[in-house]
Amino acid sequence: MQQFILALDQGTTSSRAILFDKKGHIVSEAQKEFTQIFPKPGWVEHDPLEIWSTQAGVAAEATVKAGGNGKSIAAIGITNQRETVVVWNRKTGKPVYNAIVWQDRRTAEYCDQLRAEGQEELIRNKTGLVLDAYFSASKVRWILDHVQGARQQAEAGQLAFGTVDSWLIWNFTQGELHVTDVTNASRTMLFNIHSLTWDDELLALFAVPRSMLPDVRQSSEIYGHTKTTIFASKIPIAGIAGDQQAALFGQQCVRSGMVKSTYGTGCFMLMNIGTEARLSENKLLTTVAWKINGQVHYALEGSIFIAGAVVQWLRDNLGIIKTSAEVEQLAKQVSSSGGVCFVPAFAGLGAPHWDQYARGVIFGMSRATTAAHIARAAVEAIAYQTMDVLEAMQADAGLTIAELRVDGGATVNETLMQFLADVLHTNVVRPHMAETTALGAAYLAGLAVGYWKNVEEIQALSQAETQYSPKAEQPQIQEGIANWNRAVQALQVWSG
Ligand code: G3P
Repeated sequence: MQQFILALDQGTTSSRAILFDKKGHIVSEAQKEFTQIFPKPGWVEHDPLEIWSTQAGVAAEATVKAGGNGKSIAAIGITNQRETVVVWNRKTGKPVYNAIVWQDRRTAEYCDQLRAEGQEELIRNKTGLVLDAYFSASKVRWILDHVQGARQQAEAGQLAFGTVDSWLIWNFTQGELHVTDVTNASRTMLFNIHSLTWDDELLALFAVPRSMLPDVRQSSEIYGHTKTTIFASKIPIAGIAGDQQAALFGQQCVRSGMVKSTYGTGCFMLMNIGTEARLSENKLLTTVAWKINGQVHYALEGSIFIAGAVVQWLRDNLGIIKTSAEVEQLAKQVSSSGGVCFVPAFAGLGAPHWDQYARGVIFGMSRATTAAHIARAAVEAIAYQTMDVLEAMQADAGLTIAELRVDGGATVNETLMQFLADVLHTNVVRPHMAETTALGAAYLAGLAVGYWKNVEEIQALSQAETQYSPKAEQPQIQEGIANWNRAVQALQVWSG
């Protein structure tokens, strides 16, 4: 029987499952969106049971669509929205609170307090992260402090903490495995990226008991086997990586200096920086890219919180488009944004500005402004945010990047791709295989079980790609960039 690798991509807005064959081609796929819970402005939660049920459901659906069963799966690779926190009871397997999502800002003031206490440098030196509510540590602390009885139970060793990968694996193995990998651990703010261990000083600072934490493993190894009845047989779970790191691997950015940018809910640009954890001088993050065969690679990362989500906002909140795909048609109705500048800082500004209190703003509207101008400004904002991060990355690396490899849902938007090349003044390369995140997770799992022999074999599976090159200098582009810079400055004045 022909065997495939099953990649599970648990993202911020949907759970996906994709089966890949030996050539790295998609055999079948399934996807299900799940509920976004917004209890208060700035708060974002998910129901962990819905995360699990949708993920298990699409895994079964994709397998059945391929005409297979558990026996047709050589291994499972898991990739996930990062930083999002689940805390559950070890005995009952029930979450004690909803998952607090990476976008959630409820701990912003607490992070300010830590900054005022002078903890920023310590955190940055150990974790490579900027002190911000984005990461897991302050969210775990919030759950322990606000859910009745949680702290006592945690101190008695009854609770488990995990990012979404840990939560899924716990469920797939019916509580046998409580593990994560180095990439996910590196986003918690509790993990020392130099020693690659949980850090006692940080655990004390955030008041998180060590007994709650998962074992930290490599990104590619056999962690254990599925135990649930969803599959007919026990399947090795053999790859784990945070979704952005998985995309870096899926894009085959395996050499130092290679950069990719993924356009999902947010946009995350990562540059492979090799085997040493170098800290950024320009407010980027240093993060673990992967650990394979005992060797760790690091990456510099620029995290943008709102990219594709701005299109969802046009669809769901403003109602000016019916489907996300319609944004391109609407934006193309006008040749420029007509002076409209949209900074979609709905969840604060991430890299390189890091302003927790910034919120979305639209500048420059006139009586002539139409829905098309707003849509165009929203699309352009994705490119301008990428530009800010790329500039910081080039300054850190001391080099000009020859090409930016892109992936994710928004990259089907040709108008955005060309605008991106023009604004960045560099080549933008989009592989025809849009599912690089899932592919990266599949590669990691496949390597661990010998489905693919080594990284070289994977590199030989070249995929076709489209390149967008910058057009000659256009004054309109420069004007747009200047407008964007003024808008970001003004927003930062507003947010204080
Ligand atoms: O750090 C958050 C990131 O992992 C979320 O990715 O694709 O779900 O927007 P995505």
